[in-house]
Amino acid sequence: MHTTTRERLIRPARNILGSLRLPGDKSISHRYGMLAAFAEGTSRFTNFSTGADCASTLACMEALGATVSKFDQDAVEINGVGGRVTPSSKPLDCGNSGSTMRMISGLLAPQEGRFTLVGDASLSRRPMERVRKPLEAMGARLTLTEGHAPIIIEGVPLRAIDYTTPVPSAQVKTSILLAGLQTAGATTVREAVRTRDHSELALRAFGATLTRTVDSVSVAGPQLLHAIDAAVPGDISSAAFFLCAAAIFPGSSLVLDAIGLNPTRAALLDVLTTLGAHIAVLNLEEKHAELVGTVQISAPPDGLRSTAITGALAAQLIDELPVLAAIAPYTSGGIRIRDARELRVKESDRIALVAQNLRAMGAEVIEFEDGLDVPGGQHLHGATIDSGGDHRIAMAFSIAALRAQGETLIQGADSAAISFPEFFDLLDQVAER
Ligand code: S3P
Repeated sequence: MHTTTRERLIRPARNILGSLRLPGDKSISHRYGMLAAFAEGTSRFTNFSTGADCASTLACMEALGATVSKFDQDAVEINGVGGRVTPSSKPLDCGNSGSTMRMISGLLAPQEGRFTLVGDASLSRRPMERVRKPLEAMGARLTLTEGHAPIIIEGVPLRAIDYTTPVPSAQVKTSILLAGLQTAGATTVREAVRTRDHSELALRAFGATLTRTVDSVSVAGPQLLHAIDAAVPGDISSAAFFLCAAAIFPGSSLVLDAIGLNPTRAALLDVLTTLGAHIAVLNLEEKHAELVGTVQISAPPDGLRSTAITGALAAQLIDELPVLAAIAPYTSGGIRIRDARELRVKESDRIALVAQNLRAMGAEVIEFEDGLDVPGGQHLHGATIDSGGDHRIAMAFSIAALRAQGETLIQGADSAAISFPEFFDLLDQVAER
């Protein structure tokens, strides 16, 4: 079959075997990059995410006056602006990255100057009211176009607020905290479901003081950040593709070194264990309060069972749901996903695309407004997959393709580079054909 550089042909595999070290976590790299660029002094990072999304964050921060030097693929040195950015005459291009756009909005809202944030077609469709609302409650001046990017920010001094997020979102929480960091008084964010807490841990690592309760976090501004040196933990959301691949091949054995195991991110390990996979975590360490460890996985000899992912678990696993849904036909009892409406406003409508692509591979699937029912015990065949230019859809179906009958063509496979440029090479390393 003829393929273009945007497509990738995936052949079925016989097994998943080996050991890998994965590139740095995307969420942590965004935060370390943004905070280092805003802090005083020079920060150095190793294993920084190689994805295009984090490159968008670094490019925006460079345009705002920080100096960014890259060594090798994943070593970055950042000289920060010491708490005051230089307004850029050109729009700040956030590319495909919702994290960049939402988090930088809060960082810039109290800065002096006028800033315009733009993104690609997918990002320009994503909801931005969720950051405008709380920031406006702080007195910020943000203009959106029908709730979307471009975002125009007229920087003004802000006032502290106490805000409960209506939709669980670590990006929105971070946006408010970054505004609060520069604002007199205590700014508090409350959330019904605890979202990933990398911002809280990173802010502390850069020297900020924060107060946390079970369901809230407060920052009293103004506070200045100070440079750090750090090794970014491996990305557990990237690891998810390999863990799920290993989980569907009886006889598999995979070791992933130095993976980030922050409890707000590691729910996948519990879900895979519930499904029957054998998982061991070794060499646990803490680095700047982030847990890091080696994960060993092997599949159960008699196959995966079934599970349901609902409520708070759905929010915590939001980035891993596409790949879990994509392997669900290979379980015995299927996977039920609910309370995951947010999947519809990610880089694509991930519920619709997962359903469409599972059907293309011959699977039965029931689509709900807020989730999917994927029955187990199904046999898939190779197909042409429409990734919608969404990195996680492209990678999820590359994993489903490993156990399908026949070859699968992933369209828009180049989108993997948004979070994980090394994905296909590493997959070839561990997939036995
Ligand atoms: C992220 C938070 C999540 C997640 C995204 C990264 C972050 O988005 O889906 O991939 O780094 O804070 P929301 O904040 O929209 O839930």
